Amino acid sequence: MNHLKQTDPEIAEAIAAETKRQQDGLELIASENIVSPSVLEALGSPLTNKYSEGYPGKRYYGGNQHIDVTESLAIERAKALFGAEHANVQPHAGSPANLAAYMALAETGDKIMAMDLAHGGHLTHGSPVNFSGRLYRFVHYGVNRKDERIDMDEVREIAVRERPKVIVAGFTAYSRHLDFAAFRAIADEIGAYLMTDMAHFAGLVAARVHPDPVPHSDVVTTTTHKTLRGPRGAMILCRTADRLRPDDKKNLAQKIDSAVFPGMQGGPLDHAIAAKAVAFREASLPEFTAYQKQVLKNAVALSAALQERGLKIVSGGTDNHLMLLDLTSLNLGGKEAETKLDSVGICVNKNMIPFDQRKPNDPSGLRLGTPALTTRGFTEPEMAEIAGLIVGALKTADGLTHDGIRGKVRELAGRHPIYADWPWC
Ligand SMILES: Cc1ncc(COP(=O)(O)O)c(C=O)c1O
Repeated sequence: MNHLKQTDPEIAEAIAAETKRQQDGLELIASENIVSPSVLEALGSPLTNKYSEGYPGKRYYGGNQHIDVTESLAIERAKALFGAEHANVQPHAGSPANLAAYMALAETGDKIMAMDLAHGGHLTHGSPVNFSGRLYRFVHYGVNRKDERIDMDEVREIAVRERPKVIVAGFTAYSRHLDFAAFRAIADEIGAYLMTDMAHFAGLVAARVHPDPVPHSDVVTTTTHKTLRGPRGAMILCRTADRLRPDDKKNLAQKIDSAVFPGMQGGPLDHAIAAKAVAFREASLPEFTAYQKQVLKNAVALSAALQERGLKIVSGGTDNHLMLLDLTSLNLGGKEAETKLDSVGICVNKNMIPFDQRKPNDPSGLRLGTPALTTRGFTEPEMAEIAGLIVGALKTADGLTHDGIRGKVRELAGRHPIYADWPWC
């Protein structure tokens, strides 16, 4: 940061302040994580200077001999990590990755089936305010009222009735495993593609502590920055053969590649791709499996501790890294709850709960996740302490109690520094 402090103190100060905020607070946003110094180094490297439209060995610009090395390593590492036949590591983020996958599998106006946003699906799964809902005709499945879980008989019924061209399995706010074999069987029954969006749980899959969608899916999209703990970005994994259209001139891998470039993007972010390669190597190490096991243990411990303190968790608990807290019994909206927790240094996001009676900008729930805290080294006993602080902050309006909780949050955060020996700390 020495250069930046001198040339642009305003930005340097904001970066330092954000780093301090991360250090002093407890990050419970389920889609966030903390990357390694090696990932940060790759991200901050001169690779950001390069243009390299195309793919390794087939570029539209000269001087790509070293970029070919980093992208090829990222591809090979991604394939090995997930046992995939093909990997495209160029998508800039999860949303364009999903758009590229839809472009490869369907024509605009075609019907696609995905999880309802109000029940845990993502904006790119057909929300009317998103390109997905504007370019394709989406139909949705959700969770049932009884146990707040996806009912595969209901998914099948909707699929058989609607006959979508693509079925999307995946979510942004659902705490249970998906039955990928059942999704595959339904897709086969109606002659649809199965696309899994594992943006949230990719790290758990890489560590083999979660059901694996790759063998069941035609296409798998994922972000690289959530449980996978890489740089912001995304990738697409797929089979080579197009099972539904084997006679097309292009196979499925070629369709995905041309949907990403030139279909969706221009030049890839070479610094981010190198950082993805670094993260994929990290995710192949035994320490990463140990980390993901702890992510799961921490999520179960946090969910149990919140329930012991009288709060309701949607579907009664969690099988993965996240949970949805139902605030209805506290008579508190998600917006106010998020602000209260923010004021004591606990960072979460407000979230719709299934069958929510409130509006999306002030819903009835909070989404909490354990990936970032676990990277810092937090374990189960601290989850119980954090649950106590969350409940304390949500139940009190009293400034003194708030100050006490804020102090306790700082003390807990201080036990597990993030980038202790890095220049922006
Ligand atoms: C399931 C799912 N898909 C796609 C995305 C989009 O990723 P990005 O924010 O990188 O565009 C997200 C992000 O939250 C997600 O949760």
